[in-house]
Amino acid sequence: MLKICCIGAGYVGGPSCAVIAFKCHDIKVTIVDLNQARIDAWNSDRLPIYEPGLDEIVFARRGKNLFFSTDVDEAIREADLIFVSVNTPTKKSGMGAGMAADLAYIETATRRIAQVATTSKIVIEKSTVPCRTAQSMRTILEANSTKGIRFDILSNPEFLAEGTAIQDLFHPDRVLMGCLQTPEGLAAQQKLVDIYSRWIPRERVITMNLWSSELSKLAANALLAQRISSINALSAICEATGADVDEVAYACGTDSRIGPKFLKASVGFGGSCFQKDILNLVYLSEQLFLPEVAAYWKSVVTMNEYQKMRFTHRIVRTLFNTVTNKRIALLGFAFKKDTGDTRESAAITMCSYLIQEHAQLAVYDPKVPPKQIIADLIEPGVGTNEVEVKKHVSICSSAYEACVDADAIVICTEWDEFKMGALDYQRIYASMNKPAFIFDGRLILDAPKLREIGFKVETIGKST
Ligand code: NAD
Ligand code: UGA
Repeated sequence: MLKICCIGAGYVGGPSCAVIAFKCHDIKVTIVDLNQARIDAWNSDRLPIYEPGLDEIVFARRGKNLFFSTDVDEAIREADLIFVSVNTPTKKSGMGAGMAADLAYIETATRRIAQVATTSKIVIEKSTVPCRTAQSMRTILEANSTKGIRFDILSNPEFLAEGTAIQDLFHPDRVLMGCLQTPEGLAAQQKLVDIYSRWIPRERVITMNLWSSELSKLAANALLAQRISSINALSAICEATGADVDEVAYACGTDSRIGPKFLKASVGFGGSCFQKDILNLVYLSEQLFLPEVAAYWKSVVTMNEYQKMRFTHRIVRTLFNTVTNKRIALLGFAFKKDTGDTRESAAITMCSYLIQEHAQLAVYDPKVPPKQIIADLIEPGVGTNEVEVKKHVSICSSAYEACVDADAIVICTEWDEFKMGALDYQRIYASMNKPAFIFDGRLILDAPKLREIGFKVETIGKST
């Protein structure tokens, strides 16, 4: 029986390797992590991450050919293929702080593989890493391994998006793989191609050299984020001119060379990767003495920060230039719908700005636990401390509860349950202070209908 080990039981390692187990019953998949609580949750009825369709897949294969464990060494020892899916956050201090990827987790996992492996392994870089990381992994593996053991390294970056991870893993646009163009490298790559080809059409499994594969992952995220910053930059022009950003996006998106996806104006992109990966690209460009290239990509992040601030300023300005002690219902805290993930969520920055303006925030999100919201708001660097958060933030258990006695509603996440048919906006209007304002940061509401009810509506990318 072929055995796979996945190091890192997070948003990528968990779903991606659970899907391999689901699609290939003859492969034993063991997903390991140092975090005992996370592994306990994977082994419980309440999985550590919310992702539509994930429960069914895990519950179908867990205990059969899918296992979750903290015994990293044992899983490495018995595996033929090892996915490295550990986190690669932005460095917080030292060289490249605030930009470069922190590769400490990758290095620790790699050294562990070298130390405990007693047979040859194919090591697969699944985490998003700077270009040429596979070279460092190879050097570490070769320098520390016992004689007679061979390590082949593959790059196999992941393109799943949270909220649609299972769909993306079942039907990806493509699976990307890179290897050293040697007979051994190509043979190792073929083994991984054979696994994915069980459920993905062969022509969608793209192979290339290692460095192209590593860079393509950073490039894809940078290009996606750049589209969002572009439409968000246009949203500012729309608000000032009377153009409508939805109409502009539609007009541009119907050009087949541009395409309609990823042109939804918003309060700004969030998530654990876009900002981190672009900053990583900026750092790489600087290291390569390409300052103009670095400045170009940096502007994507600058525009995103501007968008969050711009929308918050619009809220304050519209509420007669003061939100002091006004109750503001903030609907949605996750960085996008259908996930409980809040990493780099625009809501965090917006809450921080509004707390600094002394607003009273009533926050509701269907999937983010209250303690996560508080933890995010008191995180160093966010700009608000525990005392201020206690004083200014209350967490509600429904949208209706958040809106009672509120002066304004701010839509931060595009959850379906906030849409017109799903919430009774007439009831909400009746429970609010008047004039009742609603700020749609996600373009999900029908402004004319809300105005008929009596709301004062402000929409991102629209002047009224
Ligand atoms: P995560 O933080 O959710 O999970 C990483 C896990 O690795 C953690 O549980 C951590 O405890 C574990 N870990 C770290 N070092 C370890 C070690 N030495 N041994 C065992 N376990 C260890 O991160 P994630 O969101 O799953 O992202 C992982 C990688 O995938 C990152 O490089 C990210 O950029 C990339 N990625 C993420 C997404 C996404 O949607 N989240 C999508 C594509 C790619
Ligand atoms: C993104 C990429 O889409 C994945 O391909 C990639 O694998 C992943 O990053 C990663 O490397 O981590 P994800 O961050 O999970 O996936 O979610 P997206 O759907 O890309 O959304 C990111 C952010 O952009 C969200 O805050 C979303 O609301 C925002 N967004 C997205 C917009 O504001 N407008 C859009 O048109 C699309």
